[in-house]
Amino acid sequence: MIRITEPYFSEEEKEALIEIIESHQITRGRWTRAFTDEFARYLGVKHCFTVCSGTVALFIALKALGVDRGDKVVVPAMSFMATIDAVYLAGGDPVVVDVDDFYTLDPNQTEDAVKRFRPKVVIPVHLYGCMADMEAIMYLSDKYGFYVIEDAAQAHGADLKSKKAGSWGHLAAFSFYASKNVPMGEGGAITTNDDHLAEEVRRWIDFGDHPAFNFRITEFQAAIGTIQLRKLDERNERRRHIASVYTRSFKDSFTTPQEREGSTHVYHLYTLRHPDRNRIVEDLRSAGIDARVYYPYLLHELRGAVHLPTPKAETFRREVFSIPVHPYLTDEEVSYIVEALTEIVSSGKIIS
Ligand SMILES: Cc1ncc(COP(=O)(O)O)c(C=O)c1O
Repeated sequence: MIRITEPYFSEEEKEALIEIIESHQITRGRWTRAFTDEFARYLGVKHCFTVCSGTVALFIALKALGVDRGDKVVVPAMSFMATIDAVYLAGGDPVVVDVDDFYTLDPNQTEDAVKRFRPKVVIPVHLYGCMADMEAIMYLSDKYGFYVIEDAAQAHGADLKSKKAGSWGHLAAFSFYASKNVPMGEGGAITTNDDHLAEEVRRWIDFGDHPAFNFRITEFQAAIGTIQLRKLDERNERRRHIASVYTRSFKDSFTTPQEREGSTHVYHLYTLRHPDRNRIVEDLRSAGIDARVYYPYLLHELRGAVHLPTPKAETFRREVFSIPVHPYLTDEEVSYIVEALTEIVSSGKIIS
């Protein structure tokens, strides 16, 4: 099976892990500092805090903004469930709105939701590696006075107007789960340019004047993350190259992913749409290609949350499927995927 995602490690990671074991400094050491500094510098942000997962990063970001019982938080209909679960765990009340043609939070509907529900926070998700319309969302944030937390779990290295994902909002949350563009196994980070919010984040993760959690990562995770981060741009380039081959090949038979103007899409996932999605996914899997549906349910369907009308997301979630786009695919595998999917869609088995 050609896997949907594949981490890749070299001698460098192995050597770093051995060095950590031999040093006996297995937590709170130089690798954790290196990762934090290098990731902040890479993104162009003042503060970065590592934590043990992306879900925790979202939770801490919400808590740093003071989200508590009954505070409304706007989230898009399409995302991994952690986006909405973090809101519930922080005590907030999610309001789900539709997505635009890029699968990211629709700013027009966000404005409707803001007028109606007066949320404390809005969480745009840079889904599949495509940045949400951050210019429109930050404009609304200034106009109505809500906070913005970017869910950048799928968008390491993406940018808009030369500003990286994770540097636009008041706070941002990243995940370094095994499948992500920067994998650590498990891990997360919170980033911000705001000194005061950085202090609030610190209060939740450092023992001191406030009850705090231990959400730390180990030196092993930090070393893997640092070495992977140093290769991120090169690997994102490879993802973008494979995506361009797919888009050229599939644009007449499928709805292919769009790239927002002035933005670099980092193709955490390459997601197509077709009305006969279920059959196509089955046929791809029979052909040894690990196609998958991200995500079969909308966030309000999963959790019974308050929502605005979501006509786009309802269509998309019945039609989307993702094919392998990870940077370790060989050119032969990419050609095989193109041939197999072209054959599947043109074989007549598909009713579109
Ligand atoms: C969009 C999104 N948000 C949040 C998360 C949560 O991250 P984690 O799995 O590290 O808790 C993930 C990924 O798993 C994700 O894809």
